[in-house]
Amino acid sequence: MKKGIQYIIGKKERGVPITAVTAYDYPTALILDEAEIDIILVGDSVGTNYLGYKSERDVTLWDMAHHTKAVSRAAKTAFVIADLPYGRADGAADALWCAKILAEAGADCVKIEGWDEKANIIKALSGNGISVCAHIGYNPQIHNKPQVFGKDDNQAAALINSAEALCTAGAGLIVLEMVPKELAGKISKSITAPTIGIGSGNLCDGQVLVINDLLGLSTKTFKHARAFARLKETMYEAFKDYADAVKSREFPGDENAWI
Ligand code: KIV
Repeated sequence: MKKGIQYIIGKKERGVPITAVTAYDYPTALILDEAEIDIILVGDSVGTNYLGYKSERDVTLWDMAHHTKAVSRAAKTAFVIADLPYGRADGAADALWCAKILAEAGADCVKIEGWDEKANIIKALSGNGISVCAHIGYNPQIHNKPQVFGKDDNQAAALINSAEALCTAGAGLIVLEMVPKELAGKISKSITAPTIGIGSGNLCDGQVLVINDLLGLSTKTFKHARAFARLKETMYEAFKDYADAVKSREFPGDENAWI
């Protein structure tokens, strides 16, 4: 059965950690769905991880719709969240138009980067029946380089206020990126919406990882991530083995030929 926002909130209420992974294509989403991952995030990280763009800011609405369609065709149970791309959550009318395109592409929810300045946009979307996930702390679309937010009292208070304001505006979920662990725990306790952490410690209601980092496909390593597989090496070996087998005429064998 398809997981909805109530299912995700129910996990928070029962104290059961929520699992989320990014994905951008059909075969990966099929496996995530089979593995019973709760949330598949079609993040704008598709740009740097999949499309060879220099920045998340280069990702278009049409890129997001294309990849959301592929993922949602596979997600029979997982809740699918799609990012509103850079510059498309600045005005309520445009954000609503874009959110409807992503919903038509199969997204169950759209994610918006930004702190309490996005409350009016989130209110407009949720008022029009669009489920919204907020994203505070480090925002790759907005901040120029990765950094921890909330280390001093002023920033910590701004994050707590933002989380509360965005929930009041109608956000059903909140991603906390690069927020100190104890602060992330405090925010998670202070709001009813589930928090999904990345680089924010294990006191959030759930965790999200970028698929390339999880599978060991990334060219960079990040403190917040763990490679649960070494796919880069596995793929390289497979490609080399295939090439060797073709060059030596060992592949295709007679068993592969339509005789
Ligand atoms: O685009 C993305 O992958 C994200 C995650 C880092 C949360 O927004």
